[in-house]
Amino acid sequence: MADSKIIAVMGATGAQGGGLIQAMLAEPESGFKPRAITRDKNSDKAKALAKQGVEVVEANIDDVESLKKAFAGAYGAYCVTFFWEHMSPEKELKEAENLAIAARDAKVKHAIWSTLEDTRKWMPLSDTRMPTLMEKYKVPHFDVKGEANELFKKYDVPTTFLLTSFYWDNFIYFGMGPQKGPDGNLAITFPMGKKKLPGIAASDIGKCAFGIFKRGSEFINKTVGIAGEHVTGSQMAEVLSDVIGKEIAYNEVPADVYRGFGFPGADDLGNMFQFKQEFEKDFCGARNLDVSRSLNPALKNFKAWAIENKDRIPVAE
Ligand SMILES: NC(=O)c1ccc[n+]([C@@H]2O[C@H](COP(=O)([O-])OP(=O)(O)OC[C@H]3O[C@@H](n4cnc5c(N)ncnc54)[C@H](OP(=O)(O)O)[C@@H]3O)[C@@H](O)[C@H]2O)c1
Repeated sequence: MADSKIIAVMGATGAQGGGLIQAMLAEPESGFKPRAITRDKNSDKAKALAKQGVEVVEANIDDVESLKKAFAGAYGAYCVTFFWEHMSPEKELKEAENLAIAARDAKVKHAIWSTLEDTRKWMPLSDTRMPTLMEKYKVPHFDVKGEANELFKKYDVPTTFLLTSFYWDNFIYFGMGPQKGPDGNLAITFPMGKKKLPGIAASDIGKCAFGIFKRGSEFINKTVGIAGEHVTGSQMAEVLSDVIGKEIAYNEVPADVYRGFGFPGADDLGNMFQFKQEFEKDFCGARNLDVSRSLNPALKNFKAWAIENKDRIPVAE
């Protein structure tokens, strides 16, 4: 539609932004149209979007002038930052500020900021239950997103603060799939104790975000948390065993052990899981399943996600 409202989408070739674009394309009569933002129009993923008829523009989140151009004329902007590209909270804060400045300058009517809790509000740096990381953080990739909420307010951007959840797709892409332990048995490993972990199919984040845009001003200046299901480690292991057809256990490790695994970001993720475990009620409470489903009626629970992805989950032989 010629007069459709343009939504400029950061991370358009990635999980969150890509999901939003596909959700919009699935409803061509919605009155909205996506503009994909990428660093490289010639990448295979960017070319695939152009082939689907999507407007594709180049910008880099570290270059605010490029963002201003990419947001110009847009009704809305989906704003997401990329912590795991560099693992620097300071850099991520600057990225968020660039997004907020660009959204203000483009006078967007509605931005969605993909955020997470600043865990220091629950667990100040003086709290010794978990180590302080990089001198200023408990869970760097969470804290800095929560801190950045203020930037969208400071620049007076009409914003919905979208609290996302753990992607179940981490079982495929983030090395969290079932591994063989020393006993030769398959297990998934989390420091979640018996507590529930809110999770979501990554593609459902974009569908929920589209639901928020479609509801106009209803969620502006509000925080909305989304999840597909709140599930324990044992429940996930049971579903994976059933769907994959192999016995998969839940290896419930202490957060300290997880922090010591030594892969890049293990301390950040160990603190993250500990935070989710210790503050289960608040963390799950902020991610209401009925609200999520009202935004995205096709929302998947863990079993539906696992059935759809069973051949893509790497399982050690
Ligand atoms: N994994 C989880 O469970 C989880 C849960 C909640 C929140 N998160 C958060 O999600 C965020 C990442 O979102 P995502 O998973 O959708 O990302 P993603 O799938 O890794 O995709 C990121 C996309 O962003 C683009 N990008 C990367 N660096 C860029 C830059 N400098 N300028 C412009 N674009 C850039 C890339 O596109 P081009 O190559 O086309 O430029 C890439 O395809 C992280 O901050 C993470 O903390 C993750």
